[in-house]
Formats: sequence, C-alpha cells, structure tokens
Amino acid sequence: MADTENATSSAPFSFEDSPIARELADLTSRRKVLEGVQLEFTGPTRVLTVSNQKGGVGKTTTTVNLASALASLGARVLVIDLDPQGNASTALGVPHSADVPSVYDVLIDEFPLADIIQTSPESERLLCAPSTIHLAGAEIELVSQVAREHRLRTALEDYLQSDDEAPHFVLIDCPPSLGLLTINAFTAADELMIPIQCEYYALEGLSQLLGSVRMIQKHLNPRLHLSTILLTMYDGRTRLAQQVADEVRAHFPREVLHTVIPRSVRVSEAPSFGQTVIAYDGNSAGAIAYREAAVEIAQRSRSQDERSPSAAGDTNNSTSHPHHGDEHGEEGAS
Ligand SMILES: Nc1ncnc2c1ncn2[C@@H]1O[C@H](COP(=O)(O)OP(=O)(O)O)[C@@H](O)[C@H]1O
Ligand SMILES: [Mg+2]
Repeated sequence: MADTENATSSAPFSFEDSPIARELADLTSRRKVLEGVQLEFTGPTRVLTVSNQKGGVGKTTTTVNLASALASLGARVLVIDLDPQGNASTALGVPHSADVPSVYDVLIDEFPLADIIQTSPESERLLCAPSTIHLAGAEIELVSQVAREHRLRTALEDYLQSDDEAPHFVLIDCPPSLGLLTINAFTAADELMIPIQCEYYALEGLSQLLGSVRMIQKHLNPRLHLSTILLTMYDGRTRLAQQVADEVRAHFPREVLHTVIPRSVRVSEAPSFGQTVIAYDGNSAGAIAYREAAVEIAQRSRSQDERSPSAAGDTNNSTSHPHHGDEHGEEGAS
C-alpha cells in the first residue's frame, strides 16, 4: 500500500538502509555466487601445513573450516592434527581420547597412517588423523629417533601411494611452536599457509617463522613454499584491523587471499558442538568467508601450476623485508 511506502520513507530509521540490511544483502549475494561454483579436483594431492608459532591466531579454526568447505565443494580432504591439544580432532567430531590410535603412533611407532585415520561425521570426504595427549611427549621422544624430521613425510607418502582414493588436499594443523612436530609438518608439506590475526603484533614473529622455512627449504624440503596467507578475526570496524590487513597485503601481494575471515561468534561456538562452522551454521558470515577462501585456494592450484617453479624464490624476496621489530623471537624454537 502507498501508505506503507510513505511510512517507510518518512520514518527516522529505514531498515533497508541500515548496515545490518546491507550486510544481509551482501551475504545473500555471496551465498548465491558460492552455490553456483563448480570445481573439478584433479592433479596430485596438495599438502598444506597451517603454521604460525603464535597461539590463538586461528590455525585450528582455519584448518578445520577450510577442510570442511573443500569437502563440501567435492574434494577429499585429510586433516592431520599435529597439536597435542587435539582441537582440530574435536572440531571434526572425531574421538581422540588417550586410548585412540593417533598421530603419535605414526610418528613414534611407525603405524601406517591408514590405520589411524577416521572419517568425520560431517562428510565421508572429510578425514582426520587425530591427535591425542600422547603427542605432547612426542616432541621430546622424537629427539632421539632416526630420521626424526621425516617421519610424517614418510608416513604420508606411503599412505598417498597405497590409497586409490588419495585425498585431493592434506591440511596439517600445527602446534604453536617451531619444534620437531612443526618441522615434521614443514618436511611433509609443499605449501605453507599462514593465518594472520588482524591485530597489533600480527607480524611479529613472522620473520622468525619464515627464517625457519628457509632453513627447511635448504636442508630438508626444497619444495616447501609460502603459498597462502589468510587474514583472520578481522573486525572491519577498527582502523587497526584495516591497517594490519593493508600492511600484510603490501608485503605479500600474491600470497594473501582476497577473502578475509571476519570475527564471528558462530565461528567460535562451532567447536563446542564438535562441528565446523560450515556444518554448524553454513550461511553465517564466518562460514561464507571460509567457503570463499576454500574456492580461492582450490582455484589457485591451477594458476600455481602454470606459474614458474621460481615461486619459492619470489616468496623469499617478499619475505626478506623486515617487519615490525620481530627479530626478538618469542616462543621457544627449541
Ligand atoms: N573468525 C573468528 N571469529 C571468532 N573467533 C575466532 C575466529 N577464529 C578463531 N576464533 C577463536 O579464537 C581462538 C583461537 O583460535 P584457534 O583456531 O584455536 O587458534 P590457534 O590454533 O592458532 O591456536 C579460539 O577460541 C577460536 O574459537
Ligand atoms: Mg590450534
């Protein structure tokens, strides 16, 4: 009715113009785009390690949500939980009590990876090699072992060769340190993915991390390269978040995904239900962002294949810039 129209336009508050309405419209159109996406997963398995020696930057959240989003796009995905806390196993709804065979048995007792892998209740394409509390001791037990840096890589290679349905993606969730568990991840992976929290000190410690990566490239795994940076916990209302995002993009123009993960309550709630946010509330802002990030990562595989093998060298160039005073190493690299 005309009356209603008048009432709306003369009202002091118009819902259609409100920020919430704009955000909803934006989410709806992004969701539609996602629903139209069709991807084919071919080619060799991509092995990504999600690493940052800082805790609480979103490694685990990123690992499980990207894994679930990739699985929902049709990919087969294996998550390797390398953090003794086992948060990735929890979020994927996979049992990981002390009596469950885990990554610990693979690293220390040379169990085949296939023997410990479980399927997430979320999808038959979503697999998890769980962590248990025993992994806390592995860091020390590994020190005296033969080929201590290569154990995960050997186990993964055996698994990928023996399985006819090898996963398209392997995502490794690392603990917040640069110890032997993380080194095993670096040695097993081709790609390094760094989640960066859009806060002050975001770049601190980054040069220490990239320094470790260069050592690994030189001595253990020349294939490893920084392929992806994902900005997480972004709060668009703060200038600081924008500044951090701009600075990271300036240093790493090629590696940073266009998609930014917003700070979202849904994302932080999901693990307490043993779910990823994709299953818990797939149309929430956080889930849509992770689904978009997954599409970007999947599409990048093609463009990266076309790129020259000097990608690692390029990355080195861009990483040699000093950032904020990050030479003061923080947590133990012991
Ligand atoms: N986008 C987000 N919005 C809100 N909370 C988040 C988001 N990403 C992560 N968190 C929360 O931040 C905390 C740290 O995230 P987590 O992924 O466990 O970090 P890490 O594995 O690097 O230690 C967790 O409580 C998680 O639920
Ligand atoms: Mg974690």
